Amino acid sequence: MSIPSVVKNPPFNITRSSHVRYFVTDLETSLRFYTEILGLVVSDQDSDTAYLRGIEEACHHSVVLMRRRDTPAAECVGMRVASEDDLHRAQEHIIAAGGTATFVERPYQGPTLLTTFGEGTPPVELCSSMPVLPRLLNNFPAQKGGRALRLDHYQCVIPDVGATAGKFMALGFRPSKYTTHVDTGRLLSIFLTRKNNPHDLVLAQGAGPRLHHVAFIVSDLQAMFRACDIAANLGYGRHVEYGPGRHGPPNGIFTYFRDPDGNRIEFGLPPMQFMDPEDQPNVWDSTDGVSLVPWGDGPPQRWREEMTLFDGITPAGGTIARWTSQR
Ligand SMILES: [Fe+2]
Repeated sequence: MSIPSVVKNPPFNITRSSHVRYFVTDLETSLRFYTEILGLVVSDQDSDTAYLRGIEEACHHSVVLMRRRDTPAAECVGMRVASEDDLHRAQEHIIAAGGTATFVERPYQGPTLLTTFGEGTPPVELCSSMPVLPRLLNNFPAQKGGRALRLDHYQCVIPDVGATAGKFMALGFRPSKYTTHVDTGRLLSIFLTRKNNPHDLVLAQGAGPRLHHVAFIVSDLQAMFRACDIAANLGYGRHVEYGPGRHGPPNGIFTYFRDPDGNRIEFGLPPMQFMDPEDQPNVWDSTDGVSLVPWGDGPPQRWREEMTLFDGITPAGGTIARWTSQR
């Protein structure tokens, strides 16, 4: 199995995965979950939209919750670019490559480019700046629940991992890990990064595009357990879906939660550094379960099957399961 070469001078400069926009069916209930259990803080809100950030984050938001009465969905995932000039280079490049790229107005964001990279890929908005607010890392009275520090990465499920990975690697994303099918050699998942740790964007094989999870870093195991305990106290014990457990090399202690609409949020410990160019990706095949999950059971079936839909996009490449309720 060969994967594309790393592009060291990409056409524009994506710096990291930064935010996600969700349509939620009950804004007040979702807000309670994100603030009291996960420990995000509200940067701004009006009657229909709330903007939240982790306690380490100075930029305005990493989660946007938007009220909607019918079905929940993700509108898009977000990435930061280094400058406004990068947005114009991005628009030119993405359109020339067969995608779409349109400037959109977003409150509390500088110029923002909403993009798609072709069928079967997730919608991504690129943003060059946000207002800055105080970090609350040392403001202990303001901290609640799991004290989520910052958004780290998100995982999207897509029908063709190889093709989509190629599109993002052309933008400078670098693989830290990938898995292949033991018989066919087909790429099953790949962890792609732009910042100094192993993941910004994880791509995995399945009907899509769908959003599998959004991951936040927490300070330690105690914060993770505190979020689980508060979830139980507030009636969300069965929303602690999987974990605590360990993924493998990137210091991957995890717990996965489901928010009131079924969106999956991962808590993880601070990951290892991955930035020197000679540092090569881990490569596993589909039989290497011990490396992927060294102890305990593998994930429950619903973790494998249920995911957030992107608004207005019908997944291709297989059947999908929907979140019905906590089980
Ligand atoms: Fe993850």
